[in-house]
Amino acid sequence: MSAPNKSYDPVEVEALKPEQIARMRDEALAAIAAAGDLAALHEVKVAHAGDRSPLALANREIGALPPHAKADAGKRVGGARGEVKRALGIRQEELEAERDERVLVEEAVDVTLPLDREPAGARHPLTTLMERIEDIFVAMGYEVAEGPEVESEWLNFDALNIAPDHPARTMQDTFFVESAATDDDQSGVVLRTHTSPVQIRSMLDREPPVYVICPGRVYRTDELDATHTPVFHQVELLAVDEGLTMADLKGTLDHMVQSLFGEGMTTRLRPNYFPFTEPSAEMDMECYVCRGASVGDPDRPCRTCGSEGWIELGGCGMVNPRVLTACGVDPEKYSGFAFGFGIERMLMFRHNVEDMRDMVEGDVRFTRPFGMEI
Ligand code: PHE
Repeated sequence: MSAPNKSYDPVEVEALKPEQIARMRDEALAAIAAAGDLAALHEVKVAHAGDRSPLALANREIGALPPHAKADAGKRVGGARGEVKRALGIRQEELEAERDERVLVEEAVDVTLPLDREPAGARHPLTTLMERIEDIFVAMGYEVAEGPEVESEWLNFDALNIAPDHPARTMQDTFFVESAATDDDQSGVVLRTHTSPVQIRSMLDREPPVYVICPGRVYRTDELDATHTPVFHQVELLAVDEGLTMADLKGTLDHMVQSLFGEGMTTRLRPNYFPFTEPSAEMDMECYVCRGASVGDPDRPCRTCGSEGWIELGGCGMVNPRVLTACGVDPEKYSGFAFGFGIERMLMFRHNVEDMRDMVEGDVRFTRPFGMEI
C-alpha cells in the first residue's frame, strides 16, 4: 500500500486504490473459477483481461500519476494482472483437459460393433426377371432393343396394321398425350400400349435378318387393383429372317419356358387374332407346379393354374406381311415371328404374388425376399 500523497488526484486515481485493484482481481478470479467451458472462459478473458477490462483501464491511469506514485501503483496493478493471467492459463488447461476427456468418451468408436446393420436395398423382381429373360435370348444371339415410352400413334398402331377405325384399337385403352389433328391424320402421340412399336423401329433401323428382344414399360387406362395396373412391363420378341416358320416360333417359346421354369416344359398355341401377326395365337405354358396332374382330379387342386394344367402367357404369331411391307422388308423373301407377354403376370404366377399393387409400391419388404439376382 502506498503512503498518502497529497498530489494524488482523487478522481484519477480512484481506480488505482489498493482495495479497488483487489476487488477487480477478485472479481476476475471468481469469474475465471465460475467459467464452465472454454467458450465461457473466452468471454471472461475478454471482460477481465482484455484491452477494455477494468484492470487494463486502471493500468492506463498509471501514466498520469506523479513519478513517485507510479512504481507503487504499477506493482499493484501488474501483480493483479499477473495473477489473473495465471489463473486464466490454469483454468484454460483444466477446461481443455475436461473437453478432451469428454470428446474421447462421447466420440468413442466401438470397433467391435457389427458393420452390416444398415439394411440393404434390393433390386426389384420385375427388373431381375426381365433381365433373366433378356439373357436367355442374348445367349441365342438376339439383341436387346428399346424404344420410347411416349410413342407416335403411327408406330404404336398404324404401322402394326391397326388403322384408326380398326376395332382392335379399342382393345387397348390408350393414354393420349396429343390427339391427331384430323380424323385421317395419324400424327397423334400416345403412351405406348405395348412394346410392339419397338418391332417396327427395329425393322426400320436394321436390314434383315433381325433378331431382337424388347423389354419395356407400357401403359393402358386401367385402374390399379389386385390384378390390373395402368403401368406394366412387357417383353416382346421379334425374329425376321429367310424361311422362318411357326415351328421356329414354337421351338423358341419352348426354349424360353424351359430356361425359366425347368427341363421338359412345353407350350401350346391356341388360335387368336392380332392385326400385326397372321396367323396369330395365344400362347400357354404347361403348369410348372402340377404339370397337368390337377386336371380333372378334385383331390389335387392347383392354385397356380386353377387346375387348368396350362398358364396363359401372352400373344404370338407370324409377322403380318403388311407389317413387313410397312417397314420396307420384302415379305416374298423374308418371314418373321413375334411374341409378347406381361412381366407382372409372369411374376405373379412364378412367385405366387397375389396382389399387383405390391409390385408398384416399392416397399423393400416386398422386394428383399426375392434375393439378389444380379
Ligand atoms: N402386342 C401384343 C399385346 O400387347 C402382344 C403380341 C406381341 C402379340 C407380339 C403378338 C405378337 O397384346
